[in-house]
Amino acid sequence: MSQNVIEISGLWKSFVVRHNRTESLKQLFIGWLDWRRRERRQSFWALTDVGLQVERGQMVGIIGPNGSGKSTLLRCVAGILKPERGEVIVRGRVAPMIEIGVGFHPELTGEENLYLNAALYGLDRPQIEAIRPAIIEYAELEEFIDVPIKNYSTGMYTRLGFSIAVHLQPEVLLVDEILAVGDEAFQQKCLQRMMQLKSSGTSILLVSHDLAKVEKLCDKVYLIAHSRLEFAGDPVKAVAIYREKLAS
Ligand SMILES: Nc1ncnc2c1ncn2[C@@H]1O[C@H](COP(=O)(O)OP(=O)(O)OP(=O)(O)O)[C@@H](O)[C@H]1O
Ligand SMILES: [Mg+2]
Repeated sequence: MSQNVIEISGLWKSFVVRHNRTESLKQLFIGWLDWRRRERRQSFWALTDVGLQVERGQMVGIIGPNGSGKSTLLRCVAGILKPERGEVIVRGRVAPMIEIGVGFHPELTGEENLYLNAALYGLDRPQIEAIRPAIIEYAELEEFIDVPIKNYSTGMYTRLGFSIAVHLQPEVLLVDEILAVGDEAFQQKCLQRMMQLKSSGTSILLVSHDLAKVEKLCDKVYLIAHSRLEFAGDPVKAVAIYREKLAS
C-alpha cells in the first residue's frame, strides 16, 4: 500500500473580513450622533471539512468557481496559512508555491529573488550557483534577471517562479493558476516539465480553470464549491459535474 504524500482531513479555515459600509449622509449623521462603530467585522468559513489525498507521483487537480477556496487550500498545504481545525500532513519537500504575484520581493531583482527562494528551500550557495544558469535559461529571462521584480510583467514573474520551483527537484509541487498567464509556448513548456517531474515521482497539486487540461492531465480531481468539497475522483466525472453546476 502506498503512503499518501499529502494527506488532509477535516480541514476548516476561516477568515475575518471587515465590511466598510458606504452609508448615506443621513446614516452617517445618525452614526455620528450615537457614536456607533461603522466597521463590522465578520468571520466566515473559506473551507469547511475538506479532505484530500495525493499519492507519490500523482497529478491532482482542484477546480471550482472563483472564491470557492482553492487557493486557500493550496496555501494550507504550503504552510502559508494555518487552519482552525483539521490535519495537514505533507511527506516530502514542498517547492515554494507558484502563485501569481506571491512569494517574491518586488524591490529585489530576479536574480536576488532566485537566491532568496532557493536559500529558503534549504540550498546552500554552491548548490544555488549550480542550478542558477538553468533556472534563468528555462525562464528565458537572461536580459531581465538584474531588473527589480516590480518591473516584470505577470508572465515574466510567473516564468521565474515556475522555473525556480521545478529546478529544486521538489517532492511536492503546488501550482496555482499559472497556466492562465503564460503564453502558449510557455504553457506547453510548463506542462511538459510537470509531466516529467511527475514521472520522476513528484506529486503535483494543480489549481486551474482550464477544465480541458485538468481533465486530460490529472489522475484525480477535487471539485470545490462554496468552501465545500463537492466531488473527488475521476477527472472526467468531476469536470462533468462542475459544468452541469455552472450551467444551472
Ligand atoms: N487573506 C484573506 N483574508 C480574508 N479573506 C480571504 C483571504 N484569502 C481568501 N479570502 C476569501 O476566501 C474565499 C476563498 O478564496 P480563494 O482565494 O481560496 O478562492 P479561489 O477558489 O482560489 O478563487 P479564484 O478561482 O478566484 O482564484 C474568498 O471569499 C476570499 O475572498
Ligand atoms: Mg485562487
